[in-house]
Amino acid sequence: MHVNDKVALVTGAARGIGMAIATRFAREGYKVVMLDLNPEIEQAAQALKVAGYEVRPVCLDITDEAAVRTLAERLDDWWPKLCILVNNAGISPKHEGKKRDVMDIPLEEWRRVLDVNLTGTFLVTKMCLPTLKSRGWGRIVMITSQAARTRTPVPGAHYSATKSGMTGLARVLAGEVARFGITVNCVAPGRVESNMTAAVGSEVNAQLVGSIPAGRMGRAEEVAAAVAFLVSEEASYSTGAVIDVNGGSFMP
Ligand SMILES: NC(=O)c1ccc[n+]([C@@H]2O[C@H](COP(=O)([O-])OP(=O)(O)OC[C@H]3O[C@@H](n4cnc5c(N)ncnc54)[C@H](O)[C@@H]3O)[C@@H](O)[C@H]2O)c1
Repeated sequence: MHVNDKVALVTGAARGIGMAIATRFAREGYKVVMLDLNPEIEQAAQALKVAGYEVRPVCLDITDEAAVRTLAERLDDWWPKLCILVNNAGISPKHEGKKRDVMDIPLEEWRRVLDVNLTGTFLVTKMCLPTLKSRGWGRIVMITSQAARTRTPVPGAHYSATKSGMTGLARVLAGEVARFGITVNCVAPGRVESNMTAAVGSEVNAQLVGSIPAGRMGRAEEVAAAVAFLVSEEASYSTGAVIDVNGGSFMP
């Protein structure tokens, strides 16, 4: 299948890692659906359109099942060509730049993190799967986290629980859909420069960099490069796998 016939959907694409993945895909010739809850997704997509790429913005909340169900009609002729999904949208709440300990996490915050990071991923994946199956070729990538691989000091327990949950979801799904030519893999970033990591402040980030063998934080484009490999034709025999992108800060 030629790259021009492939539509890729990237969630959380208004900024950060999602934006870098959408940009990388657009440059490689895929048609890209950029989805985000933030209305700034319109400007983000416009910038790529102006540069001559084929992209479409979709503004919706992935936790809203009814809204997720409208994806097919919103994308009309692009929908049947969908064969790549990157579940990237996610949240990691901080309070005055710090995580809350388990005892201090209000149920409402716990539920929202589970809703966005895990249930939202499930809803979008479920919506897209029949189309991927009908194409007989598909790639699903979950952007998980180092927090799903080992203990990390910065994110809260709800965040780590959801990223571990996404890894489990990927593993089971990979087994279920391999016979349809669909692979399901995870990319687990360490500390990458973005709005999410800026929330703890530059002092904390500088301190954390001290324990990263590469001696710096990662760039969103470095995560996008791993995703680009996993969605390529060449990655056809990799499924249920996790690629760490963390500058050496976790080596299993
Ligand atoms: N930056 C890091 O160091 C790092 C490390 C490990 C994992 N990650 C993961 O990478 C992904 C992207 O993170 P980032 O650093 O670019 O963060 P970010 O906060 O810059 O971007 C996240 C995007 O997701 C969108 N989003 C949030 N909730 C949504 C919802 N309900 N529906 C639709 N869109 C929604 C936001 O509007 C935002 O544009 C996240 O899943 C995050 O957990 C990031």
